[in-house]
Amino acid sequence: MLVDVKEILRCGAERTDRALDRLLPSETRVPTAIHQAMRHSVFAGGKRLRPVLCIEAARMVAGTLEPPEGAENLAAAIEMLHTYSLIHDDLPALDNDELRRGKPTCHVVFGEAIAILAGDALQTQAYETLATLPRSAAAVVEIIRLVAQATGTIEGMIGGQVLDLEAEHHQPTAAMVDAIHRAKTGALIRVSLAAGAVYGSNAGNSGGTPDGGADVDRLTEFGRKAGLAFQIVDDILDMTEDSEHLGKTAGKDLASDKATWPAVFGIERSREDANRLITEAFTYLEPYGERADALKAVARYLVERKN
Ligand code: IPE
Ligand code: IPE
Ligand code: MG
Ligand code: MG
Ligand code: MG
Repeated sequence: MLVDVKEILRCGAERTDRALDRLLPSETRVPTAIHQAMRHSVFAGGKRLRPVLCIEAARMVAGTLEPPEGAENLAAAIEMLHTYSLIHDDLPALDNDELRRGKPTCHVVFGEAIAILAGDALQTQAYETLATLPRSAAAVVEIIRLVAQATGTIEGMIGGQVLDLEAEHHQPTAAMVDAIHRAKTGALIRVSLAAGAVYGSNAGNSGGTPDGGADVDRLTEFGRKAGLAFQIVDDILDMTEDSEHLGKTAGKDLASDKATWPAVFGIERSREDANRLITEAFTYLEPYGERADALKAVARYLVERKN
């Protein structure tokens, strides 16, 4: 099957943006400052890669031409969580960045207090959205459990952010960057795919199991590999692209003495590792045959992207 990855990305981003616009309180809703701050960061121009992975996983598992109805709400909730993580990542107490998605960061525009609260509010909004997904109660609870774990402290996003901060100014080791990258970034990408699989396997309110069984296991393993590859590429781009192109401050990792993949392995080996991980990830999609072509194309884009 011939797939047009640009079209898949554009379509998925559009679907996600429409859902986000519908789900987030309007800028004129009191208290306006927080709603403006949430929307500022959400609509600053993210690539929406996690939502696209989620929607494509759901579509592949459901085996339908169109994504299962409501998958865009799940995708939007994941993007809310991702944007919350970016707002907090950029705070002076964490990476102290002033540019994000080509715009001044949330705390630069709205002040630190509102930026912290905007991150918090995107998180609570995400769970409200998840709780109202049109699936059986068992499937919804399973999705919420998976998402909470992936963004939490044990091998999840927050835990990874802690490891990332603790590793600053230390000689990084392979074990250290592996743990950091799998947790701070890999986990949310992994759960975008796993939750998409749960959602897709329960499509049409018939068949399926609340946890999606084998589909979730395969998509989880695929996501583990793709998620690690994604952060390796993020580290490479920080070194090789400029700020204008990235929409965030380039060269920041070296300046902050961060534990990165290239710092441990060098840039050439990092590129090889990212490509190898994607090839390994594809093996988990073999049972789906041609139905996996769209997801494979997006995964390939994760490592070939330039921003
Ligand atoms: C950036 O993620 C933060 C990381 C976890 C590396 P993206 O590169 O997906 O950022 P956006 O969403 O497109 O801004
Ligand atoms: C961020 O990693 C991971 C998050 C949980 C947001 P980075 O600190 O490398 O992300 P960028 O480079 O600022 O986007
Ligand atoms: Mg960081
Ligand atoms: Mg950062
Ligand atoms: Mg980075």
